[in-house]
Amino acid sequence: MTRVFSGIQPTGHLTLGNYLGAMRRWAETDQHRADALFCVVDLHALTVDHDPARVRRLSRQTATLMLAAGLDPEVCTVFLQSHVDEHTRLSYLLECVASDGEMRRMIQYKEKSARERERGGSVRLSLLTYPVLMAADILAYGAQEVPVGDDQVQHVELTRDLAVRFNQRYGYTFVVPKATRPGIAARVMNLQNPTSKMGKSDDSGLGVVYLLDEPDTVRKKIMRAVTDSGRDVEYDRETRPGLANLLEILAACTGGDPEVLAGAYESYGALKKDTAEAVVEVLRPVQARHRELCADPSSVEGVLRDGADKARAIARPVVDSACRAIGLLPPV
Ligand code: TYM
Repeated sequence: MTRVFSGIQPTGHLTLGNYLGAMRRWAETDQHRADALFCVVDLHALTVDHDPARVRRLSRQTATLMLAAGLDPEVCTVFLQSHVDEHTRLSYLLECVASDGEMRRMIQYKEKSARERERGGSVRLSLLTYPVLMAADILAYGAQEVPVGDDQVQHVELTRDLAVRFNQRYGYTFVVPKATRPGIAARVMNLQNPTSKMGKSDDSGLGVVYLLDEPDTVRKKIMRAVTDSGRDVEYDRETRPGLANLLEILAACTGGDPEVLAGAYESYGALKKDTAEAVVEVLRPVQARHRELCADPSSVEGVLRDGADKARAIARPVVDSACRAIGLLPPV
């Protein structure tokens, strides 16, 4: 059976981009057709300036929202990264095959380190080595597929390179994974700035739809989305990015095609109204289930406890064999 692994950082409130780009696919298809593991990658949240209490809160909320989005612990494994020590054990071994040059070439490192410097802070070493920890997340489970949005594809490519290099140097140890992307909404853009990604750590409240936004807030944000100066509705990501983003969101929420949908609208207002309603409808069941789960926090804790046990049982033998391959003696 195909093994699938993916993760999400508890660095902010989850967005429509996280949902359409990744989580919805995990719930609708991946968990049913594959042996799938989904992880709240809390260690990754420590790579930038953070408030410990907020990380704890967001870790719980992220896990709860993953379940609310439809992940079913009966058919997949949901857990917290820091509960399984194999991630950090393997990360160190992979640091011994990775180079600092390839880390510095990562787009997210360049963007995030620039942001940290702008704020007058220093760049944490863990931000530079972040993609190695991400590679460890994936390789520890022998995952063949990694369902992610566009922004994570470069990190999965690096994971492939590290796996191949390790295997060549030290003997076959790791499955070489590949990224899988959604056909549509692989990169949901900020509604106020449609040339940048809708990110959970963005400050601009109006540009980002959060999974827990009230219906009226969702409507307000989408009705105020920046569109382009033309009058007709056409689908062109290059020249009409604001419009293309709305058409993709609508298509992803209704199962349509952005190009075909563009032909069905004569005004921006009507497109925005339908997009807002489609998003409200997609979020409604997630929010309802989230409310139920919040009323029973011990059930979420139980899922995470069992999930960590299952994850550990898969990762430990893989990481033990990597330790032996690279030259470490087993414990006596
Ligand atoms: P993160 O937490 O930023 O995002 C989680 C998932 O959501 C996708 N995503 C988007 N998709 C479309 N449009 C958007 N605007 C958008 N924003 C986010 C991301 O592509 C991702 O699939 N480094 C990863 C977390 C990670 C991971 C892993 C993922 C750590 N280890 C191992 C896969 C496998 C990250 O920061 O994702």
